[in-house]
Amino acid sequence: MVCLSYWLVISLATSASGFSDSSKRRSQDYQEGLLPSEDPFYAVPYNIGWFSPGEIINYRESPSEISSFGLVPTHLKKGYQILYRTTNSLQQPTASVLTVLIPPNAHYDKVLSLQMAEDSATINCGPSYTMQRPAQQSLLHSSNITQLQLLFAESALARNWIVIVPDYEGPEAAFTASKITAYSILDGIRAAKHSGYITGIAPNPRIGVWGYSGGAAATQAAINMQELYAPEFEIAGAAMGGLPGISQASDIFTLNKTPSSALIASAMIGLSNQYPVLKNLIYSSLKPQFRDLFYTPLHMCLQQSTLILTSQDILGMFYETLLPGVIKELDMVFQIENTHPPTTTKAPLYIYQSVRDHLSSIDKIDELVRGYCEQGAVVHYERAGSPKLSHVSYALIGIPNVLLWMQDRLDGKRVAEGCVTRADMTATLDPTLAAIFPQHIRDVLAWYLSVS
Ligand SMILES: *[C@@H]1O[C@H](CO)[C@@H](O)[C@H](O)[C@H]1NC(C)=O
Repeated sequence: MVCLSYWLVISLATSASGFSDSSKRRSQDYQEGLLPSEDPFYAVPYNIGWFSPGEIINYRESPSEISSFGLVPTHLKKGYQILYRTTNSLQQPTASVLTVLIPPNAHYDKVLSLQMAEDSATINCGPSYTMQRPAQQSLLHSSNITQLQLLFAESALARNWIVIVPDYEGPEAAFTASKITAYSILDGIRAAKHSGYITGIAPNPRIGVWGYSGGAAATQAAINMQELYAPEFEIAGAAMGGLPGISQASDIFTLNKTPSSALIASAMIGLSNQYPVLKNLIYSSLKPQFRDLFYTPLHMCLQQSTLILTSQDILGMFYETLLPGVIKELDMVFQIENTHPPTTTKAPLYIYQSVRDHLSSIDKIDELVRGYCEQGAVVHYERAGSPKLSHVSYALIGIPNVLLWMQDRLDGKRVAEGCVTRADMTATLDPTLAAIFPQHIRDVLAWYLSVS
């Protein structure tokens, strides 16, 4: 039965893919790109320990066209991929891939590291791959969240900033492992700073970091770890929206039997990709008849696993007597990932959150902001109050103010000290943002806002 419904869902999904019109336009020249798991470019070299953190190991132009909903970003002149040395959560050297997006009239001294929410547990869902056309035309690896976030990138490219996108989950796709996430973002910035001979990026550019949802959690990890891991450069501004706040098992288990059930499996598998003990424990605690279903996130990106695991009782896939042991181990690992010597946050923060957000309660975010303020951090807190908003719609509606704030940071303007909270009631998309996109993308945006 499980198998049958699995294939049913897959075939339904194939026929119901939403934006066939725009994506059909180029299907003639579509050629399936090599998956990262099969692509030697992604392989961690045997002598990785000889490289220093952030050092460039290899690079190339993006092998296929970068696109979103059939749009080739009009503000994109060139896309590069850079393989660079970073460090995993166990403090061992490893390598990850950075995508560098360069607009036609680039300001080579303004670099924005955009952490895309990936929320997947396989290297084949890294944004370096999923932002290319072949991924979007494959069932298992198409990623609507990557495509949506490529529109964020496009809005930054339209301001002539260089956008870098790290595959921050690393080669083992350690989703929710904060340490490798932080290290690979910070090393991605180092790699970008070293990449002038490839990309033209100035050696000391102003640097912004930005992420929404899973991408915000990643950005936050980097901000928290910067003083310890990469104190030698300054971050001019960090924007984080729709923060999910996952730091213990119970934070994800609230999603059980909801449309976001897949995130539980993704997070457990992702985290255990760095921790063999946890990995074995999860495997042996699952009822065998549910293993295939539980492990779907190993074989596909979130878009597809969401469909397959929607509203599933993920926790019910475990033997009841063994589940407490799994939770204990998970919490221990989450704690290892989130424990580090105290640091101060030097980068000015822009935190934006919709009061209505199914992934986190606004109280938690209020508390987070209070914590940063008490620490002496500079925070602009944009607290969106419209009841019409949701996690996804605010991802779009919140963009224009992020861009305005970030522009000041990348221009080197002084930021007001202390903490500011602004209650924003906007619930519609700023037309100036829509205006940077061609009509069929404006239609996509309008569609998103109508369904979410
Ligand atoms: C992506 O697709 C899944 C279905 O596969 C859907 O549930 C989800 O809402 C979509 N997300 C976005 C941001 O479009």
